[in-house]
Amino acid sequence: MSISDEIMIETRHLRKEYPIEGDAVVALDDINLKIRKGEICCIFGQSGSGKSTLLNQLAGLEKPTKGGVRLGDTIISRLDESELAQFRQHEIGFVFQSYNLIPSLTAIENTAMPLMFQGMPRQERMARAASILKLVGLEDRMKHYPRQMSGGQQQRVGIARAFVNMPRIVFADEPTGNLDSRSTKEIMEMITRFSRRFHQTIVIVSHDPETAAYADHIVTLFDGRIIREEYQTPDLISVQAEHAVHASASSEDRHGAEHTDRKEKRVKKERGESA
Ligand SMILES: Nc1ncnc2c1ncn2[C@@H]1O[C@H](COP(=O)(O)OP(=O)(O)OP(=O)(O)O)[C@@H](O)[C@H]1O
Ligand SMILES: [Mg+2]
Repeated sequence: MSISDEIMIETRHLRKEYPIEGDAVVALDDINLKIRKGEICCIFGQSGSGKSTLLNQLAGLEKPTKGGVRLGDTIISRLDESELAQFRQHEIGFVFQSYNLIPSLTAIENTAMPLMFQGMPRQERMARAASILKLVGLEDRMKHYPRQMSGGQQQRVGIARAFVNMPRIVFADEPTGNLDSRSTKEIMEMITRFSRRFHQTIVIVSHDPETAAYADHIVTLFDGRIIREEYQTPDLISVQAEHAVHASASSEDRHGAEHTDRKEKRVKKERGESA
């Protein structure tokens, strides 16, 4: 079984407000989420539903207003900036919608970047980067600069860079957002292959059902809240069953809470609910 029972990512009562002109926008409200080790989880939902905000919280890029995030044994919401930077360098990989490759570096140099931050000697870095570029089918593009590659190829470099230091978790915000259907399939198959082979936990933000179809676990957000969780893999069917029991037991309460929450979407700062 490739997905274990071990919980790799957990949030408890996570809330994020952004102050705007004396008010606060509630971008995330009471997010309670468990993502298992080895799982491919898709955070799904329409524009403005809070997907990127949630990803930023899970990756420790922003501090929560309330609640916390645990990655493995580390409660990241309690780390200071330098501890967080260290943690991210070693434990986390990122894939971006716009690839975020450095234009003046070749494919192999871009791929090797995370290893440089870890202080690995150049020769070893280049050897590692070359071997992972082979795995993403770019052995004949190693010396190309980003502008000399197609979008799909650039994103394959992005994937190679995210996985090169074997992080425990890879976060991807709309990794296929700029790609056509064929490249989307290639990229998602690559992410799935790496995740299964190296038992990595993957969290992908997407509004695209085609991308979500690759996930083991789909978390749908609406207005900053989780409105649905589905498990799509045989490994997680028992989790789905537990979930269904829990959901039906609490659905009445939840509906009431959702209703009240929408009315209170914009919370006055004076109420003392801000950070
Ligand atoms: N820095 C910020 N300051 C104020 N409001 C913000 C900020 N970032 C996000 N928001 C608000 O929080 C809500 C969620 O935004 P978020 O970027 O997480 O949405 P999303 O689901 O990723 O949307 P998209 O699919 O368009 O990328 C939105 O209403 C947005 O306007
Ligand atoms: Mg977004």
